[in-house]
Amino acid sequence: MKTQLLRADRPEDLACAADLLRNGGLVAIPTETVYGLAANALDPAAVARIFEAKGRPQDNPLIVHVASMEEIPPLVAQVDPRLSALADAFWPGPLTVVMKKSDRIPAVVSAGLDTVAIRMPSHPTAHAVIAAAGVPLAAPSANTSGRPSPTRASHVLTDLDGRIDAVLEGGESEVGVESTVITLTTDPPTLLRPGGITHAQLEQVLGRIQISPAVFAQLRSNETAQSPGMKYKHYAPKTAVTLVKGSFEQYKRFVDAQKTPVCAVCFRGEGQSFDHAIEYGLAGDGNAQAHDVFDALRRIDGAGCARALVRCPDPSGVGLAVYNRLLRAAAFRVIDLEIRIPVLGLTGQTGAGKSTVSALLAARGCAIIDCDLIARTATDLPAVQAALCDAFGSDILRDGELDRRLLARRAFADAAHTAALNAITHPEITRLTVEAIHQAEADGACAAVIDAALLLDSDLTALCDRIISVLAPDDVRLQRICARDGISEADARLRMAAQPPAEYYASHADLVLHNDGDLSALQQAVDAVLPD
Ligand code: TXA
Ligand code: MG
Repeated sequence: MKTQLLRADRPEDLACAADLLRNGGLVAIPTETVYGLAANALDPAAVARIFEAKGRPQDNPLIVHVASMEEIPPLVAQVDPRLSALADAFWPGPLTVVMKKSDRIPAVVSAGLDTVAIRMPSHPTAHAVIAAAGVPLAAPSANTSGRPSPTRASHVLTDLDGRIDAVLEGGESEVGVESTVITLTTDPPTLLRPGGITHAQLEQVLGRIQISPAVFAQLRSNETAQSPGMKYKHYAPKTAVTLVKGSFEQYKRFVDAQKTPVCAVCFRGEGQSFDHAIEYGLAGDGNAQAHDVFDALRRIDGAGCARALVRCPDPSGVGLAVYNRLLRAAAFRVIDLEIRIPVLGLTGQTGAGKSTVSALLAARGCAIIDCDLIARTATDLPAVQAALCDAFGSDILRDGELDRRLLARRAFADAAHTAALNAITHPEITRLTVEAIHQAEADGACAAVIDAALLLDSDLTALCDRIISVLAPDDVRLQRICARDGISEADARLRMAAQPPAEYYASHADLVLHNDGDLSALQQAVDAVLPD
């Protein structure tokens, strides 16, 4: 199919769009929130084509767009008395209201629910097209399902060129995030999706409004075992996105300490501090962030980095909508760098006695974070397993159990595969480590110790205030390894040779602890490390 490019400023193009819609066609239209992929809401075959073009799951209902209040009574079971107050305050505009539907709404529009979502857009072109078509228009965002919503005609073409009848070019969407969705079918009403109209604005009109828990967290119910990751794939670039809370200074320190290039998605004026940066909005300005956020998400993959670290917006006002979208783009991966206890990194050569040091630190009130355990936990996460299956073949998962040997064989086959593995697992390992640090903080630990053999090669160094390497003379290590693991001297020597030399550990550490067997000297050295 050839997708026609129509222009909102040409009356004949508007007439053409209306014609296409009346005849069962699909036309992407500009709205003040995002571009919508419109079809006649009363024509089930046309609406079915929307789902097909977007690859949209059948169980996700569509919003019905109208141009006037008179169009609403036939679409709903009963006009809710609260609707007129909402309409007076916010329509036309970025608000969608869910009410009980009438029989005129086809099941395909409401995805089988007994409710319908209705919105009256304020964008003059959207208004003109609905009015000219003379029918209500069902219109989801005009993106491929799972991709960031489109705020420009070019975004629509990137996703849907050749799959829809036309795109009506009408400039950039002003709001930039999809409409606020509220349902009047609960008491009190429930905010289902935050958007350009804020919770506070709605409460001024309706009184108390509850916020759906789905705004802040992923839903765990009815996840299917075959593709556990799918439910939370929204607005997602291919690049692994992590949302980072904290000050600009904490963020910059964290980005700068990463071992592999990352794309820094930050606020206006901050990008110059980074090698690969995409700016969105101004710090503290939810409206400006909303305007830019989807375009920023669409540009991340072009930055050529395996991972992106996104500055977390303040989730208040319109910022809540921005936060909500970014949370999904990040597959709910958020790390909070506001850490109030010292973080020590602990590493060392095999047999040097890192565990002895770690036990001494634990006895002095430090929380020990075992990174082997964290790495295992990370690979047990359904979203991680789904991503690993995508990258390395679904046979690495057997009866829900990860075949770690098979995964290792494939992932360590070459550098590109190893990088792919790291891009999937490292962001989760970092997130879980930061969570463990906050837990240590809550538990009253005097410091958190990240205990990791491969610390120096990992991004976890970015979290450490100080790094401690534990070293011991080779002959001492040799004896310890043989005794500990019950292996021959020759095998122990092989293991030792596989690791970097002592100088590597020493030069990358802030402090070296020599553990040659004198426990009281070691204890003294450990005590000197700890905060008073
Ligand atoms: O700003 C917007 O709302 C844009 C423009 C094009 O108007 N449209 C949009 O549509 O974002 P879509 O399909 O991407 O998102 C519709 C949202 C979904 O979260 C859907 O689950 C919810 O509205 N929704 C639709 N009908 C519903 C219903 N009957 N009950 C509850 N939620 C509903
Ligand atoms: Mg959408």
